[in-house]
Amino acid sequence: MVMTIATSLKILITGGAGYIGGVTSRMLTEAGHKVTVFDNLSTGFRRNVHDAEFIQGDLRNNTDIKKAFDGRTYDVIIHFAAKLDVGESMQNPKLYFDNNVLGSINLIDQAAKAKTPVIFSSSATVYGEPDKVPITEDSPIKPINPYGYSKVMIEEALESYQKSNDLPWLTLRYFNPVGAYKGVGQNPNVSNLVPAALRALKSGKPLQIFGNNYDTPDGTCIRDYIDVRDVARAHVVAAEKMHTGDTFNRAINLGSSNGYTVLQAIDALGQAVGDEIPRQFVDRRTGDAPRSVASNSLAKQLLDWAPKHSIDEMMQTAYDFYLSSR
Ligand code: WQD
Repeated sequence: MVMTIATSLKILITGGAGYIGGVTSRMLTEAGHKVTVFDNLSTGFRRNVHDAEFIQGDLRNNTDIKKAFDGRTYDVIIHFAAKLDVGESMQNPKLYFDNNVLGSINLIDQAAKAKTPVIFSSSATVYGEPDKVPITEDSPIKPINPYGYSKVMIEEALESYQKSNDLPWLTLRYFNPVGAYKGVGQNPNVSNLVPAALRALKSGKPLQIFGNNYDTPDGTCIRDYIDVRDVARAHVVAAEKMHTGDTFNRAINLGSSNGYTVLQAIDALGQAVGDEIPRQFVDRRTGDAPRSVASNSLAKQLLDWAPKHSIDEMMQTAYDFYLSSR
């Protein structure tokens, strides 16, 4: 990916040893920008940090934060660092409010002092169970789990700091990222559909499909799967636009706008694998929305961005990543 601006930006990426953060960091360096990654390696991997300065630290630790800010300036901060497992957040809300919210407030406070624009990694989970699809950015915000609540609190903190400190911000709400890029893929142990399906493939134990009695074509939930490369590219474009004066100060959805059922998604993965993913239907998972599909027209309009990769391509890279990391 090439720069759309002449300047090489200095960019701080929190959570850059993780999935989306790692792919975004890679794409930013490929576009000619200088990246510093700040990560506590609690769920990320050091091997995901390529061609970038690495600072190990935790946003809840002020001494660590000083390592990332003292004597340093950045053009943009991209904030990915967060715990992101919905189920875990239901079991341990304190962890999510402490890690995600408190850590983010510390970061936003530093950004405000440094007057450095912030791009925040949010999630479709802020919409909870949407009343209708496609979901637009002005759809009701009604999270139904601590993970979603934590994302809403951080979005609102950014709005507060814009009012109090004139801090420019942009929130990007991801739908369902899938796939891999140059050796950076989804953590194989997370509860999301594709890693779960690949674990089923490896173990031979059937993938548990949470409910097949929804009001959808095949009874399974519909989701908006989007290639991680498309998600990362949106961050590169947004960072460059924020540096050249776009302040945004709003949320933008990042989705493909294509909805696929769970069965359609795992059959697309099966095409890449060359074999059917073993599966069995079990009870619904609490909190699952029957449908979650993005309107991405604002991203197209404000970021001059559109998703390029199909579900088949994202499943192929997911499978290639699985093979390479077995
Ligand atoms: C997708 C579909 C499940 C696993 C979450 C977060 C969201 C974002 C993406 C971070 C659902 C079904 C899944 C399994 C299954 N994360 N499924 N068996 O819940 O749509 O969104 O991850 O930004 O914020 O909320 O993603 O991958 O968990 O589930 O049947 O073993 O697959 O019921 O319909 P979800 P998911």
